[in-house]
Amino acid sequence: MNCNVQSVGIIGTGSYLPEQIVTNKDLEQLVDTSEEWIVTRTGIRERRKAPQEMATSDMGAIACERALKAAGITAMEIDMILVATVTPDMPFPSSASLIQDRIGAKNAAALDISAACSGFIYGLAVGSQMIATGMYKHVLVVGAETLSRILDPEDRSTLILFGDGAGAAVLGPVEKGTGILSFDLGSDGAGGQYLYQEAGGSRFPLTVETLEKGQQYVRMNGNEVFKFAVKIMGETSLRALEKIGLTKEDVDFLVPHQANIRIVDAAVKRLKLPSEKVYINLDRYGNMSGASIPVALDEALRENKIKPGDNIVLVGFGAGLTWASCVIRWS
Ligand code: ACO
Repeated sequence: MNCNVQSVGIIGTGSYLPEQIVTNKDLEQLVDTSEEWIVTRTGIRERRKAPQEMATSDMGAIACERALKAAGITAMEIDMILVATVTPDMPFPSSASLIQDRIGAKNAAALDISAACSGFIYGLAVGSQMIATGMYKHVLVVGAETLSRILDPEDRSTLILFGDGAGAAVLGPVEKGTGILSFDLGSDGAGGQYLYQEAGGSRFPLTVETLEKGQQYVRMNGNEVFKFAVKIMGETSLRALEKIGLTKEDVDFLVPHQANIRIVDAAVKRLKLPSEKVYINLDRYGNMSGASIPVALDEALRENKIKPGDNIVLVGFGAGLTWASCVIRWS
């Protein structure tokens, strides 16, 4: 990052997880699967499910209020809200605008970001530039998902993976030399065919026919996504480190996207990190897409796993196919 610009860091985080727990045993009652298969192939033991009356912006708003409290600022001091989600309340208005109203952030601009599981880091990139250039002082970046609403109840390959939840981070000015140091963002649109929700947009509007075909649900080629993920997680992390002259030896803590323990293990192996330097909560929440990284970061901070001066790497991948990583020197 250019040294003439304002340094930007995360000055507060918050998260919200719905109370209802769905265990692997519960899923055994719904589809042809087993606790043993799910744990050995993914590492996931349980996930959360939002109650019917709760949508993405409801969970996001609670996470935001907690992040504002941690940052010690009010909603009126927020200049912009960015919501990373693939499960917005509705196509428009944006979930960011709905959250803005809900928390009373009357001075904030608001927009959603669609980069699937990479979306929260994309949001950090957009928001931090706004502050670095002096346009804004505080930006709320939110990852919030209600994936349970778009899962095919008969598709065992996706039903077991995903969960609901929300995480948020307040970006603000920090001391020079600390905060967000670099990003590596990317996309390979040719891989869009491996993970998508087909209906509900302009190509396949929701009709009786698309609903009958189940085109409103997530469809995934798990093997292709898996091959992409195990390669890209390590690669993008190393690129973000290289951009600021750091190496894998400089990493104090890794907060990876929580998709599958085998994918995280591949990244950890590439970075040669001991397990105590890696945050894992996918066993409890599954893959919450855009919410996974901010929830994991919030929990890691609350468990005092991150200290001032630590070099933290956040890294994710997702539909698009997209990838994103960033290096933060904790302030
Ligand atoms: N229970 C039991 N058996 C299952 C299940 C299940 N839940 N799901 C699939 N199987 C079966 C398959 O049908 C297959 O059976 P077959 O050999 O008779 O055809 C067998 O298990 C092996 O299937 P694979 O797909 O080869 O299993 P794999 O070890 O690759 O694991 C998984 C599948 C877990 C989906 C893995 O590929 C994966 O994690 N991929 C990445 C997915 C991911 O991270 N997606 C999210 C991206 S982030 C975003 O943007 C939302």
